[in-house]
This record gives sequence, structure tokens and C-alpha cells, in this order.
Amino acid sequence: MEKQRELITGKAKTVYATDDPDKLIILFRNDTSAFDGEKLEQLDRKGMVNNRFNAFIMQKLEQAGIPTHFEKLLADDEVLVKNLDMIPVECVIRNIASGSIVRRLGVEDGIELNPPTFEFFLKNDALHDPMINDYHIYSFKWATEQEVADMKELTFKVNQVLTKLFADAGLLLVDYKLEFGRYKGKVVLGDEFSPDGCRLWDAKTREKLDKDRFRQGLGGVVEAYEEVASRLGVDLN
Ligand code: CDP
Repeated sequence: MEKQRELITGKAKTVYATDDPDKLIILFRNDTSAFDGEKLEQLDRKGMVNNRFNAFIMQKLEQAGIPTHFEKLLADDEVLVKNLDMIPVECVIRNIASGSIVRRLGVEDGIELNPPTFEFFLKNDALHDPMINDYHIYSFKWATEQEVADMKELTFKVNQVLTKLFADAGLLLVDYKLEFGRYKGKVVLGDEFSPDGCRLWDAKTREKLDKDRFRQGLGGVVEAYEEVASRLGVDLN
């Protein structure tokens, strides 16, 4: 698979075309950003850890019947994926209230949400990813009713698989963000699943083991990601 021109440079990943129009290469960089890119740092090893972590999770999801863009690992920091037509919304599920929902609704940080709650956000840094609802997606034609139904169903299915996977490793999956795209007429999971896009707490101590360590300047960011990877049995070598 030949890496060709750079298509998109995001905040933490770069996307390249390949000689196959149906496939892309994603490079996971060490760049780490928060607050819509306002806080930016390079964290040693993070690209490699997130690439391998993401590959592990995507394969678990595939095994559970969730279609993903993952094809194969190409290098420590590179993965081959399907070329999706991305839907510009973020799907968030919360099992425990933390982060923006606490600020928005004035609820207590750390309360369990039963049933878990679901939110859509528009992917738009300049507007700080505003929360949107299903009707915004239909009216502005960001996705069809069927695609919205598929994204919700898949996001909840991911929750079933991953809450169990993380619980077995002594971790609470507090919340996470997913992005989907279209591939040959189907809604398929794209982007990444890594501690950059979810909240993971130690089940006993509630210690934060995700990007909140970076957002809140707690230090030990990549070490925490590596701790999660090791508990799950992700191969980082
Ligand atoms: O992280 P923040 O408090 O700004 O927003 P949130 O709405 O509480 O985020 C919910 C979950 O989605 C967290 O696990 C975030 O890490 C993740 N997220 C993300 O990966 N990318 C975004 N642009 C927004 C949220």
C-alpha cells in the first residue's frame, strides 16, 4: 500500500491518500490538544500508544459485529483504514456524568446515569462543537433519519461491548465520543477510540486515566494511557 498525498491534517492525526481510492492511511502524531486546540503539546510515545490502543479496540468491536474502518496496522504510528465519507457529527454516550454535561446542566460530577445518556455535537471547532439534536441533523441534511438511527444503535452497541471490556480490566467507561461515516451505502465507525476521546476511571479509586489528565494538567498522561493498555492486554511492543 503506497502512501500518497496528505489529505487532512487534524489536531492529532494526519490522513493520507493511498494508491487504492477506497483506502486511507492515518498517522497518529504525538500532538495532543484540548479546548478546541487552545492547549497543544507533544507527548512522547502518544501516537504509538493511541494507534495500537485504537487497533485493539476496533478489532474487538469488529468481532462483536460492529462495522469499523479498521483494516490493518502498518507501523507503530500508522494504520490502514477504509475511506469513509465522514458524517460531521460526534456521538457521545455517558455512563457517568462528567465534563461538559456537568457544566451545562449543573449536575454532580460522578453520578451514575441509568439509563446512559446520548448526545450529538456538531464537529466545528470554530463554534466549539455545539450540542445539536436529531432534527438539526435532518434539517441541515448532515445525515438521513436512517443514518441517525444507525449511529445511535451502533453507539449503544459499542457501549455494551466496551463497558464490559473495561470493567473486566478494573476500569469505568465514564463517557466516549464516536464518529461515523458512509462506506458503500453503510454507516461505519471511523476516527479513533483511544483515551484521547473517552473518560476512563480506575473502578476502585476513580483515578482519571484519560485525556482529563492533560486537560487538567495532572501529568502522567501517556503513562496513564499505557496503564490502561496494559490492563486490557494491548501489545505496545
Ligand atoms: O471533554 P469536554 O468536557 O470538553 O466535553 P464532553 O462533552 O464532556 O466530552 C464527552 C466525551 O467525549 C469525553 O470523553 C471527551 O473526551 C470526548 N470528546 C472528544 O473526544 N472530542 C470532542 N471534540 C469532544 C468530546
